[in-house]
Amino acid sequence: MATRVPGPLTRPAAAATGPVATADGLTRRFGERTVLDRLDLEIGRGEFIALLGRSGSGKSTLLRALAGLDSEAEGGLSVTGSVAVAFQEPRLVPWKRVHANITLGLAVPDPKEKADAALAEVGLTERAGAWPLTLSGGEAQRASLARALVREPDLLLLDEPFSALDALTRITIHQLVLQLWSVHRPAVLLVTHDVDEALLLADRVLVLDRGRIAHESDVPAPRPRHRDHPDLTSLRTTLLAALGVSPEGTT
Ligand SMILES: Nc1ncnc2c1ncn2[C@@H]1O[C@H](COP(=O)(O)OP(=O)(O)O)[C@@H](O)[C@H]1O
Ligand SMILES: [Mg+2]
Repeated sequence: MATRVPGPLTRPAAAATGPVATADGLTRRFGERTVLDRLDLEIGRGEFIALLGRSGSGKSTLLRALAGLDSEAEGGLSVTGSVAVAFQEPRLVPWKRVHANITLGLAVPDPKEKADAALAEVGLTERAGAWPLTLSGGEAQRASLARALVREPDLLLLDEPFSALDALTRITIHQLVLQLWSVHRPAVLLVTHDVDEALLLADRVLVLDRGRIAHESDVPAPRPRHRDHPDLTSLRTTLLAALGVSPEGTT
């Protein structure tokens, strides 16, 4: 368990066992506004978690804290091992070709080979020499996944990475993410506003509301999953209710 510490966050050295991340009373205020309010969360090794929540509920704030990008969060937070993030916008450096984007800042003895392998895994070998601005949305997101994966993270944080993609590209990327996860087995925290996406991909779905994890459901259905699986149908209703939405009101 993480020790509760006031003030600065603790970041112990990597450990091979126990949860990959633990938030214990994590709090984040912006001025008068408390966005994360004594939030508790444990992320197990290799676990695939989806995080749902209304817009502005603090999902990205939580993700940034877990990624070590927020020095002003208070309370207990321990993250063991390495973390990589992929954002909604792929955030590729436009003046570097795709391959150079993957190796950027990569401190391993064989960055080129690692990047080649990651690009092959996401099906982008032929685009390795392309400029980011010439990529389609799906290709750019695959490059972003390759950049995260090449770091072999213990915890992969995904902040609505598929929401700007068209429906068909999204289906392909879902399959790719599951495949990459089953091979590399990082713990994944996927922020999404799409209940179906959460049910299709995750082992556990969390709902963030009023600064806390207000609801949590395990998703026991085996993969590959189908949207119409009866267990998922009832879970969908439960999650929509937790989000304060009636199923009839959604498409
Ligand atoms: N740097 C910041 N300064 C002030 N307010 C912020 C900052 N970052 C986020 N917020 C506020 O915190 C709340 C949660 O934001 P965010 O975590 O981005 O929500 P979500 O990702 O769930 O849509 C929002 O009201 C947002 O305006
Ligand atoms: Mg967000």
